[in-house]
Amino acid sequence: MMRVLAGIVVVVCACAIAAAGALVVIAPQLNFTARATPSWLETRLAGYVLRRAVRNHAAAQPNPLPATAENIKAGEHEYLEHCAVCHAPDGSARDLLGADFFPPIARLARGAPSWSDGELYYIIANGIRYTGMPGFGQRHDPGEIWKMILWIRHLPHLTAQEKAELNQRGECMPQHEQHSPAPLSYFSRGKRLA
Ligand code: HEC
Repeated sequence: MMRVLAGIVVVVCACAIAAAGALVVIAPQLNFTARATPSWLETRLAGYVLRRAVRNHAAAQPNPLPATAENIKAGEHEYLEHCAVCHAPDGSARDLLGADFFPPIARLARGAPSWSDGELYYIIANGIRYTGMPGFGQRHDPGEIWKMILWIRHLPHLTAQEKAELNQRGECMPQHEQHSPAPLSYFSRGKRLA
């Protein structure tokens, strides 16, 4: 009996070491550039892990602030200041930076319905590692973040006037010039960077 158990332990340890070794050898061979679209498996796996991590860590707290016109307006102000450069003033994530992200910049125009208030708070306060999403919790007080969440929830209900104002704002934001795309090999090992 003891010998069978010892055998199982040895096999399990050997498998774990082989898997860790494979990871250490294989993972650095993967292409981690933001321009490449990763494999279906990597996208699904990373998406699953990030989503589960947010759900596991976020508090199940609803927004403590009421959706008054004043709070929404304050949220809009913060959002335009810190988020619109990436997510666009109307949450459409249309490209204002002239850059490629992977995972792509999330569209918020539908109000991020798949996340609860607490999860949105967690994402905005902490950011999401290995993506372009920064964390804002260290330099913003909770009230500012909750107000931005009110604004994000308001995005699907924009009035025609609000839309027109936001569009105008989008036009006024610094526009990037169109550059011709550089071939991917330009950034590869052995090539000089300009
Ligand atoms: C530098 C660009 C950048 C800035 C600035 C930025 N974000 Fe993001 N954000 C991203 C990217 C990229 C993702 C996608 C991350 C992912 O898919 O895991 C994202 C994801 C999110 C998500 C998750 C949405 C979803 O459906 O998965 C929310 C919510 C969010 N951002 C809100 C904000 C808010 C609010 C601000 C401003 C306080 C902000 N972001 C600033 C790039 C940015």
